[in-house]
Amino acid sequence: MANKDNYKNYFYVTTPIYYVNDKPHIGHAYSTVIADSIARFKRLSGYKVFFLTGADEHGLKIEKEANARGITPKELADAVHIKFKDLFGMLSISYDRFIRTTDEDHIKTVQLAFFALMEKGDIYLSEYEGWYCTPCETFLTDKVLIDGNCPQCGRPASRVKEESYFLKLNKYEKRLEEYIESRPEFIKPPFRKNEVLSFIKEGLNDLSVSRTSFSWGIPVPGNDKHIIYVWFDALLNYLTAIGFEEFLEGRDNDFNLLFKTANHIVGKDILKFHAVYWPVMLFALDLPLPKTIFAHGWWLMDNKKMSKSLGNVIDPIYLINNYGADALRFYLLREITLGLDGDFNMDNFITRYNSELANDLGNLVSRTTAMLQKYTGGKLPGFGEAGSIDEHLSKAICNITSTLNERYDNYDFARILEETFKFINTVNKYINDSAPWKIDISSPEGKRNLYKILRSAVVSIYCISYLIYPFMPDTAARINKILNVEAFAFFKSSIVPENIFDSHGVLFKDGHKINESREILFPKIINT
Ligand code: MSP
Repeated sequence: MANKDNYKNYFYVTTPIYYVNDKPHIGHAYSTVIADSIARFKRLSGYKVFFLTGADEHGLKIEKEANARGITPKELADAVHIKFKDLFGMLSISYDRFIRTTDEDHIKTVQLAFFALMEKGDIYLSEYEGWYCTPCETFLTDKVLIDGNCPQCGRPASRVKEESYFLKLNKYEKRLEEYIESRPEFIKPPFRKNEVLSFIKEGLNDLSVSRTSFSWGIPVPGNDKHIIYVWFDALLNYLTAIGFEEFLEGRDNDFNLLFKTANHIVGKDILKFHAVYWPVMLFALDLPLPKTIFAHGWWLMDNKKMSKSLGNVIDPIYLINNYGADALRFYLLREITLGLDGDFNMDNFITRYNSELANDLGNLVSRTTAMLQKYTGGKLPGFGEAGSIDEHLSKAICNITSTLNERYDNYDFARILEETFKFINTVNKYINDSAPWKIDISSPEGKRNLYKILRSAVVSIYCISYLIYPFMPDTAARINKILNVEAFAFFKSSIVPENIFDSHGVLFKDGHKINESREILFPKIINT
């Protein structure tokens, strides 16, 4: 069994690093909550996890915004990256490092990598003439422009002609194609793999990786007229954070073991950078590629793209302040199958909250604890008094836990939540059908029967708290407090998560007391 010194394996998970030109919105919360949920599940399952998030602070887009505000780009980055940190704190994001591309170690990593590739001849000096989209920080060809606008964001592209360093993409095109073809786990969901392959098959032009027309960025080593392209800079954050520099110096660290297990969570709009440019950079650096790049879909608002100009951008802080962080996390992960686009609809948010969180889960916890208070003064009937636990419930939970690893590996979070909430209803129905309030407890069988129901309900709730923990960590912790158990101390006990229902004897020993709780987990929202 896994314990603190005997991890199953490493697991490295990353979010995109966020541009600091504006405050965070729901899309940023989304990428981060996905990464947090898988990080929490893997930790629970005995992996040594490193979870990275951070801020993308260089580039023309940031410089322009700082100029507009009359401050320096660094002042802008200092102010805005805090907003991301605050949001992630409110969302209980359990990151191990929040990297900033202005961090010293990152600047060193980027210059080391750039220099190494110049030495190798994979980066060379030439001239770039073409189009550039500043909001997307992307070079564009004539072919992809739509009426002079960027195909990604629809805004006008600018004409650029400047001396530039180029990264050889063409040299690695075939190798990349074969790599992607032969590894189903590399790009997820599977339909995205075909998209990337057809992009590669159109032919890869060498990528311009420096700019001379502005100054906010990392200078090219030995030629500081040139600023390193913000995507070349940003992607390398995934190496910096786990000690690339130390690794190059031959110091003993986890770099090698960790990087191979990397799962990059990205939005579909930035898949090309992660699945084409990034692997080429890694090939050129003679490094292994990450294990998986998972591209999630986009949140729309009432079926329209969210944008500042339309005034339909959802503010995650507003939702957290009004409904709680877990309610937001739940909605984001439950509403859409990861990978597809979804519509953020407030009525739908409230309906789900009221029916699934307040009615189904909230009521199950409050009615069970109330029954315990009423019948036993909060003392959980022991194994001896209650006999074995309801078999139907035990089977139902086993069905869920047996598929859990696979579902997480496929980022099938909506399905896990769906099954968990089905189970919550099964427990509610079990209580209704067995109607403890009708049982004649003057007979020994009646008493035993009642005790079995109480114990079965409590153990079920414990299992539910385990299942929801990665998605709703604070709710799981609150439930554990009510149940008076230490939070998921699997590694310290002999409990095997896959077989959690049957391990209840270890946690709930004879004489265990359930805390009296008048706490309402999810107060109903009155829709005005
Ligand atoms: N800085 C780059 C990433 C560099 S990673 C080496 C960047 N930053 S971003 O701030 O513009 O976007 C970060 C993430 O937010 C992307 O994964 C993007 O898909 C996601 N979202 C932005 N708007 C979104 C929605 N409306 N819905 C879901 N996610 C979207 O790109």
